[in-house]
Order: sequence, then C-alpha cells, then structure tokens
Amino acid sequence: MYNLLKGKKGIIFGALDENSIAWKTAERVHEEGGKFVLTNAPVAMRMGQIKNLAEKTGSEIIPADATNMDDLQNLVTKAMEILGGKLDFVLHSIGMSVNVRKNIPYTESNYMNTEKGWDVSALSFHKVCQVLYKNDAMNEWGSIVALTYMAAQRTFPDYNDMADNKAYLESIARSFGYFFGKDKKVRVNTISQSPTATTAGQGVKGFDGFIAYADAMSPLGNATAQDCADYTVSLFSDLTRKVTMQNLFHDGGFSNTGVSQEVIERFAK
Ligand code: NAI
Repeated sequence: MYNLLKGKKGIIFGALDENSIAWKTAERVHEEGGKFVLTNAPVAMRMGQIKNLAEKTGSEIIPADATNMDDLQNLVTKAMEILGGKLDFVLHSIGMSVNVRKNIPYTESNYMNTEKGWDVSALSFHKVCQVLYKNDAMNEWGSIVALTYMAAQRTFPDYNDMADNKAYLESIARSFGYFFGKDKKVRVNTISQSPTATTAGQGVKGFDGFIAYADAMSPLGNATAQDCADYTVSLFSDLTRKVTMQNLFHDGGFSNTGVSQEVIERFAK
C-alpha cells in the first residue's frame, strides 16, 4: 500500500460479486486511501453481494441504470453530497450483450438486442461522461477509466457484437477525452484487459478455451482482475496525469504477440 489515492473521491460502477473487476478495484482503491460510492443497476443489486463490499470499504451504494440519464444525474448529485465535493476518479466497468446471452450468432443479430447491448456496454459511457461534464463534477487532474477488450481491434468470433460495442466505447474515450482534457483537465482512458473469469467474461461462448489460449499466448500470462485493479489505481493516481485518450493494453503482452512457443508446440508434428 502506497496511499496513492489518499484524499481522492470517486464512483465505481459494476461490482456484481467478488469476481468482478470493479469489486477488486474497489478493494484496492480503498487500500490506497480512496473514498467512493458504489453503484450498479437496480436489478443487479438484488442478485449481487454489493452490500458486503460496501461494508468492507465503508462506502454507500446508490443504484443507477447506467443507460438512464435521470439515474445518472441522481447518482452524481448524491455522490458529491456524500463524498463532500467534486470527484477525482470514475470507473465504468459495465458490459452486457443480449445477443450473447441468448446465444444468437453474430450473423443473425437481432437488432433490438444489438441496440440494448450497445446502450448498456458503450453508449452508457458517453452518458456517464456527459453527466459528469455538465455537472462540472470532476476535479482537475481527475481520471475516468472504462474497461474494454481487444476484440475491438481483432476478431474473436465468439465475442459477437460485444466487439462492436467495445470499438464504440474506445472511440468515446478518445472523443470525450479531448473535451474533458481541454475544458476540465480530466483524463479519459480505456483499459483493454485480458480475458478474466467473471460473470460477464464467462458469458462468452467457449470461454475456458479462450482464457487458456490467451494465457499460453501472453509472455507474462493473462492479467488477472487483481492485476487490473492495480493498474486502474495507477491511472487514478497522480502518477499518470498526462495519460489520456488512450486504449491501454493490460494483457501480459498478448496484443503484440504473433505466436508463442507454447502455441507453436501444439501444432508441431
Ligand atoms: P461483471 O459481470 O462482474 O460486471 C459487469 C457489470 O455490468 C455487472 O456488475 C452488471 O450488473 C453491470 N451492468 C450491466 N448492465 C448495467 C446497467 N444497465 N447499468 C449499470 N450496470 C450494469 O464482469 P466483469 O468482467 O467484471 O466486467 C467489467 C467490465 O470489464 C466490462 O466492461 C467487461 O466487458 C470488461 N472486460 C471483461 C473481460 C473479461 O474477460 N471478464 C475482459 C475485458 C474487458
């Protein structure tokens, strides 16, 4: 522990259970001295164990559907009241595809499902940024982070329409990052994380093979949710003040590896 986030305040979206990347991040932020409000969709909170996390980290919970502007406005207003002022960090750790959930192949997308998944997984990030921006809710040198996956750049067939959602999400980080940087001195980035065994991750077809393959391909092995929490803390800290509008690969080297010896050996005759 380095007290990297001492005195900093924020909002953490997306802690569903103890496997969630947001859950691990909340624990790490707490260890580093940060204070925050936890939020999730009302429906997720009925199933989730978020209360345990709130107790453990001395946090309050404010339900919000991240696609609903009224919920987001209420969340940001209340979070500033509870925390006593503007925010220094926000984590958007939200993803869901209805087509994936219903096992509908990419080539047969149902567009109602596509729109819902896009709204939850991608547009919600714009909505969060807009509410923060309009309320002037971020302190200077604050940091906003969303989580993404490399299927935004390269095709992973079973990642389905989440690939398109992630491409859109990463673009929002660049576009809003410009305005947030210019007008408010706030940074906006996405972390492109290794496959991770969480509820959302395991929803991807063939996830076991997927995660094992990524691990075999990555010189440092897959980054875990705990590793991701560490990295996010660094992006919330004052040590990365000039990093913005980036998609930052946090994947043990996977994204720059053509093939690894372990994978070659599987094909050698
Ligand atoms: P998770 O299932 O624990 O978290 C997803 C969260 O999104 C849940 O807490 C869920 O309640 C929340 N959510 C869904 N709809 C919502 C809505 N309308 N409003 C507010 N919240 C809503 O899974 P995980 O893996 O921790 O996911 C976090 C982020 O990390 C997602 O963006 C995911 O795409 C991303 N990611 C995950 C990877 C993985 O392999 N698990 C790899 C790379 C990125």
